[in-house]
Amino acid sequence: MRKTLYKHRIKKRTAANQMVKPKNTPFIYGVATSAFQIEGNLEADGRTPSIWEPFCNIKDKVFEGHTGEIACDHYNQYREDVSLIDWLGVDAYRFSISWSRIFPKKHQANPEGIKFYLDLISELEQRGIKPCVTIYHWDLPIWAQQEGGWTNRKCVDWFLEYATYLFEKIGDRVTLWFTHNEPFCSGILGHTLGLHAPGYESVKEGFLAVHHLLLSHGKAVKRFREMQMIGEIGIVLSVTPLYPDTSSQADYKSTRFADAVSHRLFLEALFKGTYPKEVMTLVNRLTRGRLKLHPHDMETISEPCDFLGINYYTRGLIKTKVGGIGYSAGKPRVPVTDMGWEVVPYALKAMIERIRSEFTQIPIYITENGAAYPDFLERDFRIHDEQRVLYLKRHLEMVHAINATGGDIRGYFLWSLFDNFEWQEGYSKRFGLFYVDYKTLKRYPKDSAYFYMDYVREQKRKNNEQMP
Ligand code: NOJ
Repeated sequence: MRKTLYKHRIKKRTAANQMVKPKNTPFIYGVATSAFQIEGNLEADGRTPSIWEPFCNIKDKVFEGHTGEIACDHYNQYREDVSLIDWLGVDAYRFSISWSRIFPKKHQANPEGIKFYLDLISELEQRGIKPCVTIYHWDLPIWAQQEGGWTNRKCVDWFLEYATYLFEKIGDRVTLWFTHNEPFCSGILGHTLGLHAPGYESVKEGFLAVHHLLLSHGKAVKRFREMQMIGEIGIVLSVTPLYPDTSSQADYKSTRFADAVSHRLFLEALFKGTYPKEVMTLVNRLTRGRLKLHPHDMETISEPCDFLGINYYTRGLIKTKVGGIGYSAGKPRVPVTDMGWEVVPYALKAMIERIRSEFTQIPIYITENGAAYPDFLERDFRIHDEQRVLYLKRHLEMVHAINATGGDIRGYFLWSLFDNFEWQEGYSKRFGLFYVDYKTLKRYPKDSAYFYMDYVREQKRKNNEQMP
C-alpha cells in the first residue's frame, strides 16, 4: 500500500490566464465508474429518486427489469473499493456524484449527501489517489424531470447551483472535473431514441436537451474560473468514428449525417461555437423555424476548457436503410466484444488526428476505454479474461503510439473498476477489472486486473528511468 498523502498544488488562475499543464507532466493512469452504476442504497441519507429509477420500471427498457437498487453496494463498501484501486497502483479515480444525493429537492442542499463524497475523497487522499469528479453522469433528479428536465432551460440554472455547491465543498480536493459525461447519450439516447432515461422519442426534445446540457457545461466552466478554482475542468464526449458500410453514395451521405449528430453537434459547438448545418436544417424543418437560440448561448458553450475527455470503445459502420430514409449499423467485420462492438484500436488514432486537425489542440484524456466479455468465476476464484487483456493491451499501446506522434493524450482511465449496472443492459454485461458476484457482492480480481497493475507499474518504472 502506498502511504504518501496526495499534496494539492494550489494554482490560482483567471479566465485570461488559463494554465495548460506543461507536456512533461507524468501520464495519469486511472480507473472509472459512475454513481448510479455502482452505489446502490438509493434511499440512503435523504437521497431522492433520479430519472433512472422509473425508467428501470418501464417494461422492456432495461434487461430483465434490473434496477440500481443494490448495484455494487459501493455506498457501503467504498473503503474496501478504494483499497482495490490502491492495490492496482493507479494514480487516479474518476467517479461521478449523484445529484439527487446532493440536492434531493429543488434548491435544498443535503449535508448527508455530500458527506459520503467527502469521506470517499478522504479515503482516496490517504492512499495518494487523485480524485477526478464527473458532475453529471445521466442521473437527473426526478424533481428536475417533473419540470421538463433538460428540455427546460431552467435546468441549466439548477445544474449551475449544483456545480457551484460542489466547487465550494470539494473544489480544493479534486484534480480533474468533468462537467458532463457523454451528452450525446443523455441528450439523444434519452430524448430522441428513447433508449435511456427519460425515454423520449423526439428530435426537437433531443436537440433542446443537448443545447441545455452544453449550455450548462459552459456556464459551469465560467463559474469555475470566476471562483478561481484549482484543478482543471473539461467535458467528456463519446467518440465512435463512423465509416460507410459500402462505397455507395447513400451510405456515404448517411455516415456524414450520423457523424454530424454524434460528433460534430458537440465538437463544433464546443470548439467553434456553431451547430452543424444539417442538424439545424432538420431541427428548423421539424419546428417550422420556431426554435430560437438565445444570442449569446454559443459563446457560453464554447467557453475555453483545460482539456477534452474522450470515451472510446469502438468504431461504427453506417448503412442506409432500404428506401433511403434513416440509417442502421452495418455488420461487424472484425471480432466483437460482448456488446457486439468491433475491436478497432486504430479508429481511436484516426479520431484523435481528426480532433487535432479540425477542432482543438487542448490536452486530451481518454476518460473511458474497456470491454465487456462474458466472464466466469472459476472454482479457484480466478477469472481468465484473456480477451479483455488483449483489448486493453492493444488500446494502451495505441494511446502511446498516438502520443509518439504528438497526440498530447495526458491520461487513460479504464472502464471500469468493477462490473456494474450497464444501463439498458442491466447487469448482463461485465466491463470490470474486478468481477462482482451479485449474490454475495464480493469482488474478485480478473486476470485483466493483474495485467493493468503490472502494466502501470512497468510504465512508471520506465518513466522513472528516463527522468534526469
Ligand atoms: C460510457 C458510459 O459513460 C458508461 O456509463 C458505460 O457504462 C460505458 N460507456 C460502457 O457502455
